[in-house]
Amino acid sequence: MCGIVGYVGAQQAAPIVLEGLVRLEHRGYDSAGLAVLGGSGLRVGKRAGRVRDLAEALPKRFSGRLGVGHTRWATHGPATDANAHPHTDTAGLVAVVHNGILDNASALRAALTDAGVELVSDTDTEVLAHLVERSGADTLEGKVSDALAAVEGTYGLAVVHADFPDRIVVARHGSPLIVGVGEREMFVASDLAALVRHTTTVAHLEDGELATVTATGFTTMRRDLTTTHREAATLDIDPAGYEAGEHASYMRKEIAEQPESAERVLRGRIDERFATAHLGGLGLDPRETRGISRVKVLGCGSAYYVGQMGAALVEELARIPADAEAASEFRYRDPVIEPDTLYVAVSQSGETVDTLLAVQEIRRKGGRVVGLVNVVGSAVARECDGGVYLHAGPEVAVASTKALTTMFLGFALLALQLGRVRDLSIADGRRLIAGLQRIPDQVREILAQEDEYAEVARQLATAESLFFVGRVRGFPVAREGAQKFKEISYRHAEAYQTSELKHGPLALVEPSVPTVAIVPDDELVDRNVAALHEIAARGGPLVVVTHPGVDLGDVPATRLDVPRSERELDPVLLTIPLQLLAYHAALHLGHDIDKPRNLAKSVTVE
Ligand code: G6P
Repeated sequence: MCGIVGYVGAQQAAPIVLEGLVRLEHRGYDSAGLAVLGGSGLRVGKRAGRVRDLAEALPKRFSGRLGVGHTRWATHGPATDANAHPHTDTAGLVAVVHNGILDNASALRAALTDAGVELVSDTDTEVLAHLVERSGADTLEGKVSDALAAVEGTYGLAVVHADFPDRIVVARHGSPLIVGVGEREMFVASDLAALVRHTTTVAHLEDGELATVTATGFTTMRRDLTTTHREAATLDIDPAGYEAGEHASYMRKEIAEQPESAERVLRGRIDERFATAHLGGLGLDPRETRGISRVKVLGCGSAYYVGQMGAALVEELARIPADAEAASEFRYRDPVIEPDTLYVAVSQSGETVDTLLAVQEIRRKGGRVVGLVNVVGSAVARECDGGVYLHAGPEVAVASTKALTTMFLGFALLALQLGRVRDLSIADGRRLIAGLQRIPDQVREILAQEDEYAEVARQLATAESLFFVGRVRGFPVAREGAQKFKEISYRHAEAYQTSELKHGPLALVEPSVPTVAIVPDDELVDRNVAALHEIAARGGPLVVVTHPGVDLGDVPATRLDVPRSERELDPVLLTIPLQLLAYHAALHLGHDIDKPRNLAKSVTVE
């Protein structure tokens, strides 16, 4: 959620840090700040609002060749100038930027106040600056280590100190921290997106590690300051993936990239000869696979809804009981972890704290968990027993699109592999493989209808409140559609099972409340059409996402036909028009598509 960027080298730090902060804007934030160390000592600029407001407010001569910056998402105290990071000690020698939450902040704040320290913000982070300054250690690493010994909670942080002007000391415990290696210049960041313009040679700190970063290199250590010898590696990533290019927004770009990302997630993973999938990274041999008695999917937000689609695929194709649960709830109900259950954590970022904590809980109790994760080397990917990388490429917009398509296809591959070790016939295996191979072109076909969707979206955008309804395979599609619509259009969009309409929501149906209904050509089509009649009878406007040839009778509805896939795979194609409806509604309403209010790309705090 919050973002960290730092620079040390021969160039002016402020412009590089500010540009890095702009690249983290999509993660969500409400204030920004930076500190530079130069000839005149430590200087700090910070304020509530956008990075661009901060840049405009900085004095012209804000010079220094070492700097750290931060975008803040308010946790302790409101979004004010004083609460923005960096935080400093009273003398203004130390500056700290911090992601995460310190659990014992109140006690530490009280102790500092008792000791006569005047705290100037409401934040947990401010205590770190004072603790660093008050440490008796004679190195900055020693001071940071002393401060960290006193705090409980999570952090990714960067510390600078006027008495140690050649270095940034960073530390990680639960919040990502990356060191980037340049030519006689070095970078630090909480997210690769802030660094790729400068370098793709990076080292990811592990939890419990600190690093000293100077213009000429870095060294890593444990909190007791013993070295950990971590080395940087050059990642095979294309920095262009982080640019919106010709597109008006990242979301629009990422929607358009779906045919290619769908091809990538399938590439090299289909075994035509045995009509199965080959997901080597799962680390499951056939005997273990046969022993799986249940599959439990865990994710948050849209990843959870795709997890529901994925669980249905597993149950249908592999005939293994499967369900999905919000990872944010799972851990708190003291779940029974079963040895024969395969747990699947699904996450674009691999950073979502609830998903990560669910993985840790399962492993602590001896369960087996695999990941469907997009970001290579992310925390969830590292913590799982095995996994499948999604190869969606960098996803920047808060509203997830291409990652979700690849998650669905990842589940389809998993279900196929599990199914073919069990009772799925070779004929069904071939049928599904053919269906999967058609998906990228079918996504292209849907995207070619964009103008039609845009028109419908403009009509939907006028409604204050909408329903999205579907049944069985269509229900998670409706949930995901409502989620996408509400998060960027700010309209109240609620998903319901079509079968449950009579049990409450029909009371709200009237001419001002449109319903987007998912009506695939499956065994439930007649029942779905009957429900459409009930909505129409109450004057509810209808948009029906369906398949060519489905007879909607005389129901007055705007119809959006989506190409048919194999029934089990239909949900992924039905989802695409809903992305475009949300996108064009938000565009029409003039909202900031990539940075919806109050939301963050990855939710790294509980
Ligand atoms: C946030 C994002 C959603 C995303 C969810 C899970 O809420 O806004 O788009 O689905 O986190 O993120 P993950 O990175 O774990 O897939």
